Amino acid sequence: MPPIGFVQLLDPSEHFRPESKYKDYNADKRTKKDKSEFRQFEENLQTERVAETYRLMHTKQTLSFVKEKIDKWGKLDHSEMTILDAVFMLDSLIDASDPDTDLPNSVHAFQTAERIRAKYPGDDWFHLVGLIHDLGKVLALWGEPQYCVVGDTSPVGCAFQKSVVFHQFFKENPDSLDPVLNTEYGIYKPNCGLENIFLSWGHDEYMYQVLTKNGCKIPKQGLAMVRYHSFYPWHSGGDYYHLCSEEDFKSLEWVQKFNEFDLYSKSDALPDIPALTSYYQGLIDKYCPGQLKW
Ligand SMILES: [Fe+2]
Ligand SMILES: [Fe+2]
Repeated sequence: MPPIGFVQLLDPSEHFRPESKYKDYNADKRTKKDKSEFRQFEENLQTERVAETYRLMHTKQTLSFVKEKIDKWGKLDHSEMTILDAVFMLDSLIDASDPDTDLPNSVHAFQTAERIRAKYPGDDWFHLVGLIHDLGKVLALWGEPQYCVVGDTSPVGCAFQKSVVFHQFFKENPDSLDPVLNTEYGIYKPNCGLENIFLSWGHDEYMYQVLTKNGCKIPKQGLAMVRYHSFYPWHSGGDYYHLCSEEDFKSLEWVQKFNEFDLYSKSDALPDIPALTSYYQGLIDKYCPGQLKW
């Protein structure tokens, strides 16, 4: 059981990657333990949790469900706090997939940011995106179930594609039986642009709404990274291009760049968070200052 006030969260996007391009990204890289040290039941339990999260997501996230979530959370009437407040609020989430870590979730935020900073020193907005990309997970602390917070995202309002992980669970989704929604384009027009489609509800879309509605000045490629980093069927699976605009293909390159830094490895050095805070506070003051509405 997690300590009182903490919420257990498993992000299957960051812990379960079935694509062959991530074959080197496996349990050994994510833990101090050798793979042989894992007891079988721990692996089975994790697989079960991942599958159950996707079963609920694919069964319940219909087009109307997503619209209701956008309506509810998009009002940003839940809280007011700064970006750094939210970074440290994430420490109340416990990684349910990893029994041998006690690292605060803010470590993932700073590690991602620092890896980006080392490779792209001149793009300060990119460093900030690394820090903030998962802040939408605060939804879990406000009672949203995991299948509405974490995991890969994919379009609703058109046919569910085989490129989506655990796609077999979509057969229980009522939209699969809808004669309009269950077509290649559904309610959308060819190459209408991703900004005009509804993706399954989760921490990506929520954080995009927080940033844009608070008037944050992060460049549009950075906003695309926040909004689409869990859209694996697109940025890693090469699917849904028939809904993309020319602009989306430009964003795709940036989202793929970002993705290299997101999947974390415990072989990374632990960031010295107190020493880094003033640098990131400067970026926050530049791009998304003060109290934001959440
Ligand atoms: Fe994420
Ligand atoms: Fe992440």
